[in-house]
Amino acid sequence: MKRINVLNEETSNKIAAGEVVERPASVVKELIENSIDANAKVINIEILEGGQKYIKITDDGDGIYPEDIEKAFMPHGTSKIKAIEDIYSINTLGFRGEALPSIAAISNTTLRSRISGNDIGSEIQINGGNIQYIKEVGCSLGTTIEVENIFYNVPARQKFLKSSQREAALISDIVERLALANSKISFKLCSNGKVSLKTFSTEKVFDTIRTIYGKNTSDNIIKFEKHNDIASVHGYVGNAEISRGSRNNQSVFINNRYIKNKLIATAVESAVKSFYMINKYPFFVLFLDMYPEYIDVNVHPTKAEVKFQNDREVFKLVFDAVHEAMRDSLRGSFEFEIEQSVINLNETIPEKLETIQLPMDFKHNEKEIEVFYEKPKEIIKEPFKNKEIIVTKALPTIEKVAKFPELKVIGQFHSSYIIAEAFDELYLIDQHAAHEKILFEKYTKEIKENEVSAQILLTPEVIELTSEDYIFYVENKEICKSAGFFIEEFGENTIKLSEVPNFLGKPQLKEFFMSILENLKRLGSGETYEVKYNKIASLSCKAAVKANDVLSFDEMRALINNLRFLEDPFNCPHGRPTIIKMSLMEFEKKFKRIQ
Ligand SMILES: Nc1ncnc2c1ncn2[C@@H]1O[C@H](COP(=O)(O)OP(=O)(O)OP(=O)(O)O)[C@@H](O)[C@H]1O
Ligand SMILES: [Mg+2]
Repeated sequence: MKRINVLNEETSNKIAAGEVVERPASVVKELIENSIDANAKVINIEILEGGQKYIKITDDGDGIYPEDIEKAFMPHGTSKIKAIEDIYSINTLGFRGEALPSIAAISNTTLRSRISGNDIGSEIQINGGNIQYIKEVGCSLGTTIEVENIFYNVPARQKFLKSSQREAALISDIVERLALANSKISFKLCSNGKVSLKTFSTEKVFDTIRTIYGKNTSDNIIKFEKHNDIASVHGYVGNAEISRGSRNNQSVFINNRYIKNKLIATAVESAVKSFYMINKYPFFVLFLDMYPEYIDVNVHPTKAEVKFQNDREVFKLVFDAVHEAMRDSLRGSFEFEIEQSVINLNETIPEKLETIQLPMDFKHNEKEIEVFYEKPKEIIKEPFKNKEIIVTKALPTIEKVAKFPELKVIGQFHSSYIIAEAFDELYLIDQHAAHEKILFEKYTKEIKENEVSAQILLTPEVIELTSEDYIFYVENKEICKSAGFFIEEFGENTIKLSEVPNFLGKPQLKEFFMSILENLKRLGSGETYEVKYNKIASLSCKAAVKANDVLSFDEMRALINNLRFLEDPFNCPHGRPTIIKMSLMEFEKKFKRIQ
């Protein structure tokens, strides 16, 4: 065994700093949280080179007393708690008194601040934990902090940083989450001199979601809300159209603190599963408010996790809130539950029911919450023939299996819905959703097999992009190409679109391509090809389908026959039902012929 050394203060401070400051984004998070705790209404963030070179946060909050400015940088210097009991009734984001000393230990930090009532403010400069000066300065009300050269004195940590673009993206991500949790505060983020995010003070989370994620997202979200004795939950959950291949678009805020929580994510995902069965993760923004004594926030150095006193109760509250909201939003003008009829129609025999893995002590087999879901369909039962066909994944025969009986077309309603019948059942088909789904399956198959048939445009579309969008275009160039969009570079930040998929027709190509780019951008760089292709395909198919078409009987029959043999004819690419049905018995009940 080697001899024991007692570490000097500088070394131990650097080690302690590592717990709080992992990367520039953690500095930004801590500093914004301090501004929020100081009641700021406006918070501006500027970064250079992914924050590693320079971070500046300006707020118009309460400021720091001149006599306290040095204490703010002392380990355990905090104005937020006095004793350990206080953290169980905490309503600030900070409480450890560790962030500022940790940040100052590994960077060149300058902070200036002025409180109301004082004409003059004070400024402190610290390099690698050593105070350089404290002086009086003229400055506006509130606090400005500049953090330069992060990890300049801990080269080992620098190596773990990603490219400055990646680091900037991580900063942008954390600013977005903090902005979502604090709709009343205006945030502005500038990266290398360009504004990359700007939110406006509003009372409504919905508005902030729209500002951050855009219209396509806010058009596809459903509000939920529920309360019980110890907690209340509210927020928005997305439909299938905006679900994604990763959990990036899920935000959980507990008492307004952004945290990662598996239990809550599982509760939302389980609730959503009965409405759209796709292997993607739902978008959601969820706020859980509960009495601080029922949670422990002091279980993680960056406060990114919490522990609940009663996991089961939290799970149930979240599950019920989301489930009820989804169910209500899907309830159509018919009184019977569409959800039920779609599930009946899509009758499959799951090989075995699998229970969702719930963390900790949640008991899934307790009666009141059944969160079973079906395994991928390996055995398909044709409901009308009562015959089972076993289809293994590799067999192409899956396409040949009709998923519902041959239908006799009765007519068309509102130039939008096909009315048809088979046996004792009435079927209503949303012709646009059905058409979209047929195109979607065909197109995604063509992409997979590298056989997209494209049309050459007589006049190519020249599109000028912002430099940010151009980066995304370059990143996704190959994906666009194999999806049938042939593009060439055409001068600085400008591209020329000369071929598009055949079925697309001639929509507003420029706007359409920009919306593809916008959507890819929102998916982020980390997504798989499949998720990106699915996005392009669902956008394209939506664009290709015309609304309100009068169809001939032949056209209606052809549409239904195409639909019958799809892999999944029952849902459109955005997860909405394509077919609903009603049995004779249901009719007779409605007309009170039978009880
Ligand atoms: N932007 C700010 N405006 C006003 N006061 C601030 C600001 N930033 C920091 N302070 C003061 O400095 C103190 C130390 O900040 P620091 O972030 O180190 O600790 P904390 O926020 O109390 O706890 P934590 O380590 O959990 O973040 C705070 O308690 C607060 O009084
Ligand atoms: Mg703090």
